[in-house]
Amino acid sequence: MRTDTPVQIRLQDYRPSDFLIDRVDLDVRLAPHDTRITARLALRLNPAGRTGVPLVLDGDDLVLEGLELDGVPLAADAYAASPAGLTLHAPPQGPFELTIATRVDPTANTKLMGLYRSNGVYCTQCEADGFRRITYFLDRPDVMAVYTTRIEAERAEAPVLLGNGNPVEAGDVPGTGRHFSVWHDPHPKPAYLFALVGGALDRVAQDFTTMEGRAVAVAVYVEPGKAPRAAYALDAVIRSMAWDEATFGRAYDLDVFNVVAVSDFNMGAMENKGLNLFNDKYVLASPETATDGDYAAIERIIAHEYFHNWSGNRVTCRDWFQLCLKEGLTVFRDQEFCADMRSRAVHRIGEVRNLRARQFPEDAGPLRHPVRPGAYAEINNFYTATVYDKGAEIVRMLRTLIGADAFRAGMDRYFADNDGTAATVEDFLAAFAAVTGRDLTAFARWYERPGTPTLAVTRAYDAASRRCTLGFRQSLEAAGPPLVIPVALVP
Ligand code: SER
Ligand code: ZN
Repeated sequence: MRTDTPVQIRLQDYRPSDFLIDRVDLDVRLAPHDTRITARLALRLNPAGRTGVPLVLDGDDLVLEGLELDGVPLAADAYAASPAGLTLHAPPQGPFELTIATRVDPTANTKLMGLYRSNGVYCTQCEADGFRRITYFLDRPDVMAVYTTRIEAERAEAPVLLGNGNPVEAGDVPGTGRHFSVWHDPHPKPAYLFALVGGALDRVAQDFTTMEGRAVAVAVYVEPGKAPRAAYALDAVIRSMAWDEATFGRAYDLDVFNVVAVSDFNMGAMENKGLNLFNDKYVLASPETATDGDYAAIERIIAHEYFHNWSGNRVTCRDWFQLCLKEGLTVFRDQEFCADMRSRAVHRIGEVRNLRARQFPEDAGPLRHPVRPGAYAEINNFYTATVYDKGAEIVRMLRTLIGADAFRAGMDRYFADNDGTAATVEDFLAAFAAVTGRDLTAFARWYERPGTPTLAVTRAYDAASRRCTLGFRQSLEAAGPPLVIPVALVP
């Protein structure tokens, strides 16, 4: 049990990073107990940050094996390294390149964060802060870089090697029994979206052509022998791609889209750029035993991770306080997809039941927190029904408030204004304010106020004038000004 008070990280203390990383070249040599990672980072001062300060890179459980600045090994007194961080005391004030060699043991990594092995398959989980378990880095979502990753492994142990982005090169390392593949992701991304996979995997695949005319090779990888059980997941990916084009005008942006199912995965699934990773219970379905509910769950989670490609990846979060910006919005998008694929009314009833069963109690108990929390000690504790499901309901209310057409226009505006950046809830609302001319300041209270408001509705019908008067009264335990509650009158 820890007895010290955990350090609280507060939204109001947000400060831009003092340094930026534009490019990351990774060389990962996989081995069960002794994986070697060489990271070449192109760094520069952030114009929005401070000058003359040390460079402090995050680490977690790392062993430093080598460190070079612009190709020259660094003197021992120029830096300080520990498993939890790497500090350069006096970094250059112009652009510079840092080459960092680290060593990790994927087999011993039972936290399932960073690089680990699941049933003999190498895989990664980097959200929220797992990348710092692979190499020293500015492991925060507002530091976005273009990644090139070379992955090398024993061919017999890991015949399939996958990375983010597009495959650019593959081959053997002569005379070693090892092979490699190189991946380039042209879209700048935060470190939490990094992923790689290496293992013996079977594949089912289908081609998809986007509305922009891009040919995409879509594939689902599973443990050997399980490919027939992946057909439904593959179909769900294809339908998600078509739906996001038709509904939100969002097209896929790489030449490949890979989904990998592994047996050990803490989060249900993860939206790594071009390489979504899943707990295999959300991918595999046997027609003989899977229920309608199993199929619905696979469809929903496949769609959720795919939709993150725009709501989360192309537009990411400035900091982890903005988690609802990607999660609430993406849950809303997966709900709408499932409603279109199935019965809208049945689906909505299911969502509201889920909200009442899981989120209302959370919001009424000691774990209550705003959809955008103001402080946290451990961000992993905030992947909650409140952030996800209440976050989705706020987006739904926004659509009710401004109408479906203005909502779509606002979404277009949000993606256009924030593409390639790390955004905030304020940026999101600003897009809808811009297209509608409405002041959404009062609506924004939903993000800050915990608790479930009660809405009392009265109805008085006056037969003589044939007028019906509706009265609404809201009450909320937490003190503060009223919340904006849109009410739709359906004739
Ligand atoms: N980002 C992941 C998701 O899709 C975490 O589970 O929700
Ligand atoms: Zn998500």
